Amino acid sequence: MILVTGGAGFIGANFILDWLAVCDEPVVNLDKLTYAGNLENLAALAHDNRHILVEGDIVDRALVDALLARHRPRALVHFAAESHVDRSIHGPGAFIRTNVEGVFTLLEAARAHWSALPRTEKAAFRFHHVSTDEVYGSLAPEAAPFAETHPYAPNSPYSASKAASDHLARAWFHTYGLPVTISNCSNNYGPFHFPEKLIPLVILNALAGKPLPVYGDGLQVRDWLYVSDHCAAIRRILAAGAPGETYNVGGGNEMPNLALVRTICALLDTLKPRADGQPYARQITHVADRPGHDRRYAIDARKIERELGWKPRETFSSGIEKTVRWYLEHEAWVAHVQSGAYREWMTRHYGDAHD
Ligand code: NAD
Ligand code: DAU
Repeated sequence: MILVTGGAGFIGANFILDWLAVCDEPVVNLDKLTYAGNLENLAALAHDNRHILVEGDIVDRALVDALLARHRPRALVHFAAESHVDRSIHGPGAFIRTNVEGVFTLLEAARAHWSALPRTEKAAFRFHHVSTDEVYGSLAPEAAPFAETHPYAPNSPYSASKAASDHLARAWFHTYGLPVTISNCSNNYGPFHFPEKLIPLVILNALAGKPLPVYGDGLQVRDWLYVSDHCAAIRRILAAGAPGETYNVGGGNEMPNLALVRTICALLDTLKPRADGQPYARQITHVADRPGHDRRYAIDARKIERELGWKPRETFSSGIEKTVRWYLEHEAWVAHVQSGAYREWMTRHYGDAHD
């Protein structure tokens, strides 16, 4: 079996659902169920004994030790994190605790477990650390996309905490030989994306007749990847990635935020027109920019394509349409995640108009 952390979040839940759809290997899912962890993401597995949920914190060394001893996973896939840049600006402490101390705890627990394994199990064991392109900082408009050799220059508390975790993971390979692999991925989108992030926020605010908040001039560029393609990349790395290696994963879909928001508005104009017949783009509102906002991210994914044969399957136009349809068809999921805690965040960050 494999041990997954953060499997009730956006990418972790998609990973577990996809994993159990393509193989029968059980998954132990260690998740603290923070505001971002949602068991409704895993509702399809409610009666599936291949998924074992353990509610707990990755910083709890005794718990992690006990899980490794009891389940003897052949791999640990580490998603759990505080993941939202804006929240890291409001309150960085939780990011240092989970993203830095949490990784340290997992690496130390995995090292103790792995060191005691018999030779063949030891050689097969993998610790896969899921990271982000944000560790590389911001790209100039004409600069080449981030390759694995790009220097680290994180700019937000979130990206700095992820950069620190990458350095720890890398060091545990170099110093102790722990078979670590790392992936640095671009912006994901798709089902179960928590609506604090741009794409689901825009879809749901549009439908609710609320402003669509675009930070600054809206010309910041992100490289969007459909979440199942990210999950497939991680499966390839687990199956064939070399210990000590980093793989950059991206969609080759660079787009300014404003163009992305307009694309979502145009899709909604077709799929669910406003009652007054006006275009949703009328709801776009420029708001104050994110402090330290990175201008551009783009990924050079040629290494994972060349060495592991991975390529994204979803185009941006098919992926974004699927995503918009998913939110239209999952009203109950949407209603539940937009609970009191979500409304508090919206008011705190955007003010009353978005509540
Ligand atoms: P998310 O915020 O949706 O989910 C995070 C999950 O981790 C939640 O289920 C939460 O309950 C759990 N968690 C948080 N703190 C925990 C703790 N201390 N112990 C145990 N569980 C804890 O995040 P996501 O968007 O699914 O991102 C998953 C991973 O992928 C993160 O490491 C993130 O840095 C990375 N990543 C995300 C993106 C993206 O676009 N979302 C892109 C590249 C990399
Ligand atoms: O690049 C990978 C990263 O992508 C992951 O590591 C992070 O976990 C994930 O949250 C995401 O970070 P971003 O900051 O790029 O995602 P977000 O959806 O928050 O914002 C996308 C862009 O849209 C960014 O330029 C900020 C802008 N934005 C965001 C929000 C929430 C707005 O203009 N308005 C908004 O209200």
